[in-house]
Amino acid sequence: MLRIAVLISGGGSNLLSIIDNIESGYLDKIDLRYVISDRENAKGINIAKERGYNTIVLDMNEYGKKLSDEILKKLNNKVDFIVLAGYLSILTGDIIKVFNNKIINIHPSLIPSFCGKGMYGIKVHEAAIKKGVKYSGCTVHFVNDGVDEGKIIDQSIVKVYKEDTAKDLQGRILKEEHKLLPKVLKELSSKKSIEDYDLVTSN
Ligand code: GRF
Repeated sequence: MLRIAVLISGGGSNLLSIIDNIESGYLDKIDLRYVISDRENAKGINIAKERGYNTIVLDMNEYGKKLSDEILKKLNNKVDFIVLAGYLSILTGDIIKVFNNKIINIHPSLIPSFCGKGMYGIKVHEAAIKKGVKYSGCTVHFVNDGVDEGKIIDQSIVKVYKEDTAKDLQGRILKEEHKLLPKVLKELSSKKSIEDYDLVTSN
């Protein structure tokens, strides 16, 4: 079993898609050990509680720059992988080294477009509409010490229509995210070891 923690800050719809896929049996080798939020009022924390998972709130305002270290203390030797699913704080310091190639993030654009510092939430989709791109999408990538700069694992393409608002696009991409993230987790959890996952060592 691949033991994971999911880190969130808000709505938690990607978290919910992971939970649903565990419970349906699709993610039969994923053991969701912890759901961690960096803010108390994250809707996703209630979803996790209702579904019976361990939840931890580490308030970003309380921990400030020590937040990443606090998360590391909770997760070191307890999980194999960390999944950032709408987690808005930036992970820094030792956690990136200890979990090298073992932290993944989902981003709502086709990286390297519309990503990096300050590009989150609706801003990503506003920028895509403003640029007039015909396709956008979502990306799952490994997390390193840059922002949205780690190796790309997989992407899904989504059509952008002329009449789309940023909200429309956000909703259409979110539906794809709910398929892409479980697909990547399925792949990761079916490898015997991380070394078998060719994207870790290639490109
Ligand atoms: C998603 O669009 C994800 O790509 C981004 O933050 C959003 C989180 O949505 N990183 P939710 O909280 O999973 O509903």
